[in-house]
Amino acid sequence: MAGLKIAVIGGGSSYTPEIIEGFINRHHELPVKEIHLVDIPEGMWKLEIVGALAKRMVARAGVDIEIVLTTNRRAAIEKADFVTTQFRVGGLAARAKDERIPLKYDVLGQETTGPGGFAKAMRTIPVILEICNDIEELAPNAWLINFTNPAGLITEVVQKYTNVKVIGLCNVPIGMVKMVANILEVESKRVKIDFVGLNHLVWGSKVLVDGEDVTQIVLNKLSDGAALTMKNIPDLKWDSEFLNSLGMLPCPYHRYFYMMEDMVKDQQKAIEEGGKGTRAEQVLEVEKGLFEVYKDDTLQEKPQQLEKRGGAYYSDAAVSLISAIHNNKKQLHVVNVKNNGTIIGLPKDVVIEVTAVVDKTGAHPIQVGEISPKIYGLIQGVKAFEELTVEAGVKGDYQMALQAMAVHPLVPSVTVAKKLLDDILIENKEYLPQFQSKIQELI
Ligand code: G6P
Repeated sequence: MAGLKIAVIGGGSSYTPEIIEGFINRHHELPVKEIHLVDIPEGMWKLEIVGALAKRMVARAGVDIEIVLTTNRRAAIEKADFVTTQFRVGGLAARAKDERIPLKYDVLGQETTGPGGFAKAMRTIPVILEICNDIEELAPNAWLINFTNPAGLITEVVQKYTNVKVIGLCNVPIGMVKMVANILEVESKRVKIDFVGLNHLVWGSKVLVDGEDVTQIVLNKLSDGAALTMKNIPDLKWDSEFLNSLGMLPCPYHRYFYMMEDMVKDQQKAIEEGGKGTRAEQVLEVEKGLFEVYKDDTLQEKPQQLEKRGGAYYSDAAVSLISAIHNNKKQLHVVNVKNNGTIIGLPKDVVIEVTAVVDKTGAHPIQVGEISPKIYGLIQGVKAFEELTVEAGVKGDYQMALQAMAVHPLVPSVTVAKKLLDDILIENKEYLPQFQSKIQELI
């Protein structure tokens, strides 16, 4: 059988060695022949550095994979079997604005949660739609594995507005499994978590080790201060009474909702004179160091320093998912897929994050049914925000955008919603073709 062609959109990302490592490790079961790393001309210098490392990694591993570095997205997509997306429109500079603008109004400043996630979605939607146009035309059978944030929301855009076969993916669920394994001091393959919710708003409704329910044991450990977070989220400790009455495992991102005031304070402290800056500003520094390391032409594997980023285990998640599709494995993966009645109380056509059986026809979510009122309010509130954001971003509809912002659980009032929205539109004007006439009115 002919080897597979993979196109990685946003190939110049400092995360690329992660995904290359994943393809190398699974080459015995996933016959990848070509990996096309695509970036925009402004990102070419990064692509050249990280691409050269990718070539050295492949050579060192002795696998027959051709690495192609290109700015020609259409050529990369043409006849691809899998397209993965890991791009960030506007780069880290735009992310820093997403983080700083809300803090002016004492609202959480985060790249995927709250108004920051809204801004990132607005910039990403026009681009993901162009990419999907290319896939429909040049690789209609390809699977799109979307990792671009806000991952659930962007997957919903593709699901609702294109004919592309898409599965959204995040490293949080796999990261939680590894962290729980660490806390319990067992091998991660013995741990299974039933996940339910939305991307970056997912709960572990049950934690099992070798099939035995250990949810309460994990909650006790968390109450005692065990760490369960990602590199990009401060490890604020959980209230034990709250955890016990919740009876479920929150994800690291839940701190933004359940500990909103403390998280905002933490962020505001970081941007004070002499503080460490927003996460994007910290990542800029980490990236500088990473690209220096990548330049070393004796380096032939993914360097340790990449662990300073929040996206750990991304390659595991992405490549094992691709392998499950290609090899028709009927394996369980936690993915972002169309609800289709899986969670009762949400529309059929929205995207949720749940455990699904993955085979060559796609991801088939395992039925969840009714969910507890402890979590459905938050899920429905954030999902309403996401639905409105999707529509606003695709249509360039200001009224819809205002409704999205106003309904978000982390936005306190319509007055603040409006200020945030106008600031976001003005600050992102070069990336928002869909809002140009409104932006002209505003400036
Ligand atoms: C987490 C999230 C990813 C996000 C990453 C950011 O792992 O799940 O969606 O992209 O963190 O990490 P960074 O190092 O860029 O702050």
